Amino acid sequence: MDFQKELDYRASDVDRVIVKYLPKVEGYQKTVFEAMRYSILVGGKRVRPILMEETYKLFGGKSKALEPFMAAIEMIHSYSLVHDDLPAMDNDMLRRGNPTTHAQYGEAMGILAGDGLLNFAYETALKAFDEAPLDATAIVRALKVLSNKSGVYGMVGGQVADVEEVKQNGISRNRIDFIYSMKTAALIEAAMMIGAILGGADDEQVSIIEGVAHKIGLAFQIQDDILDVEGDEAVLGKEIGQDSKNQKVTFISFEGMDRAKAEVTYLSDEGITELLKLPYENRFLTKLLEFLVHREK
Ligand code: FPP
Ligand code: MG
Repeated sequence: MDFQKELDYRASDVDRVIVKYLPKVEGYQKTVFEAMRYSILVGGKRVRPILMEETYKLFGGKSKALEPFMAAIEMIHSYSLVHDDLPAMDNDMLRRGNPTTHAQYGEAMGILAGDGLLNFAYETALKAFDEAPLDATAIVRALKVLSNKSGVYGMVGGQVADVEEVKQNGISRNRIDFIYSMKTAALIEAAMMIGAILGGADDEQVSIIEGVAHKIGLAFQIQDDILDVEGDEAVLGKEIGQDSKNQKVTFISFEGMDRAKAEVTYLSDEGITELLKLPYENRFLTKLLEFLVHREK
């Protein structure tokens, strides 16, 4: 099977897992269930759950016990996009070729669907305790990583610095590095670290994985910036040129396009080299890391 087919296969398997855990659309809170479903099922590459699963396999993980965490991390990612698109944040009307959640359901329901997905992510991850043969200590370690990397010491913290960025004249390169590390790399780190922890990695191996994911996460965000300048709108499913329209300072504003592209390659090569130092191999994971940073959407 070629790489793209294998990737599509894995993404549709993630969809199956998400659908399995999503709440039923019923009751007086029906609209929020519908908006949650819409937000998470309307598209997306499923990068984080796939990275989690492939890292799990790298360390010899084999069972389906990882599934609650795969669904949970995509719910957190999805809520972050829903809230990022809100009028108070980026005020975007289009994502993945479709109306954003607030454009479709109104602003109040956009906020609540995001809140719902965030909370339901933890309700779902906790279901890992019902899955044999996962070890309870490992699940608790994974929950700590998930909560830390998505919160104010991770993704939310990065978003705070990002939101305030526009108001600041003379934003520093250090601040850009902080924003990229937190708002994007942190969740990629969580995905791969949780896969490693539940796959049975020891502390040192988990920290190697954190370093790999950090570099891949930074490269992923710089590539996101590159696509905002050079991407194909039909492929991306959203308007390009948003950063310059919103006068957003990015890695490209500091370093220029050529250096941004070189940095993506450098970070990705470094990350992969570190990964290959581990005494295990998952060739699909290596290919996936290469693919992600050179993606077109
Ligand atoms: C695209 O992911 C998303 C990013 C590159 C991360 C951007 C970070 C935020 C929007 C943080 C927002 C945080 C809060 C708290 C509101 P992707 O290319 O995997 O998207 P896909 O799922 O559509 O494929
Ligand atoms: Mg944003």
